[in-house]
Amino acid sequence: MSLRTPRGVVFGGPSREHGVSFLSARCILQNLPADRYEALPVFVGKDGLWHGVAASREEMLRYFARPPREALLDGVVPGSKPAPTAETVASFSDAFRDGAWDVVFPIVHGTFGEDGVLQGLFEAMNVPYVGFGVAASAVGMDKVLMKAAFAAAGLSQVRYVAVPSASWSSPGLRPALVARIGALGLPLFVKPACAGSSIGITKVKTLEGLDAAVETALAVDATALVEAAVDAREIECAVLEGDGGPTEASLPGEIVPAHEFYDYEDKYIDDRSYCVIPADVAEGTREEVRRMACAAFDAIGGAGFARVDFFLERSTGRVVLNEINSLPGFTPISMFPKMWEAAGLPLDALLDRLVKSAFRRPLRGR
Ligand SMILES: Nc1ncnc2c1ncn2[C@@H]1O[C@H](COP(=O)(O)OP(=O)(O)O)[C@@H](O)[C@H]1O
Ligand SMILES: [Mg+2]
Repeated sequence: MSLRTPRGVVFGGPSREHGVSFLSARCILQNLPADRYEALPVFVGKDGLWHGVAASREEMLRYFARPPREALLDGVVPGSKPAPTAETVASFSDAFRDGAWDVVFPIVHGTFGEDGVLQGLFEAMNVPYVGFGVAASAVGMDKVLMKAAFAAAGLSQVRYVAVPSASWSSPGLRPALVARIGALGLPLFVKPACAGSSIGITKVKTLEGLDAAVETALAVDATALVEAAVDAREIECAVLEGDGGPTEASLPGEIVPAHEFYDYEDKYIDDRSYCVIPADVAEGTREEVRRMACAAFDAIGGAGFARVDFFLERSTGRVVLNEINSLPGFTPISMFPKMWEAAGLPLDALLDRLVKSAFRRPLRGR
């Protein structure tokens, strides 16, 4: 019998970002310290079915045999049907019995994996897991709730208007919304409240484009968000739950997007965008970013790890909080592991620390 404890690395899932998750999972599977952990892949299909170790390994191989672009863009198509409930429940229990994990590292980006749904399942089944709990995941995934939590903590953000679908389609309520949006000026960014990876986001340069942009966002989620655009550098900071002490921030990095904004292609496919680690910013700015990154993590009750994204306004030098990502990309080219590496924490030590953090949290009743 192996003395190494089995850890399940859960990937895939019924998410638009299904394909990206394979890359993150492979990186974690390959870098979890092999002398201590037996890292087991746990694949969840786009239909929601769970798979045992052998089937998960096969799925990984199949994925990496596909053309990279096609595999990466493979995600759930809105409206597609999940597997029947009885099969889904049975598949989870079979996969659990097969892997017998004592802790899981979920790396399912986007809906299902990042919004508290998967975390709720683990809580209900008493499975310790890495990362944010149920409430923090849900708040972090919903840009409207997230912004409210950040505002309550006094953190500086861009001006915005939340647009619930029911208000947008109401002839009585829409004019007031449009007036408030008009006061934000131009250009605007229109986004779904819950999505990620720039899905459903449009940059609007004239008010004529507003309706179509809001419809695009509302096709992804029932609430849209309209934000004033800032002309800014994009700064990111990696955060780790304290190891007995307060929340810790890495050195910040900078993303230099190749496209007009940092979109899905840019993030995962087009390698013309690049990052600079550590970001070339004044010491005061660097410390402000690190302080705000920890404050954002604490404001929503984060656990484990997160990446916090900022705008550094070009005209004023002001640091503005954009968002928190509770399951940031974990590929070899991802900012999160690279920022910790620059701060002196190599990948295997980082993963070791993350797995340990899962046991610090009592399950349920939090
Ligand atoms: N208010 C804004 N001003 C300027 N650029 C923005 C703004 N909002 C979003 N962007 C651009 O769009 C990208 C994606 O937006 P973001 O809110 O981070 O969504 P996601 O959760 O999909 O990553 C950002 O990285 C940035 O390039
Ligand atoms: Mg983002």
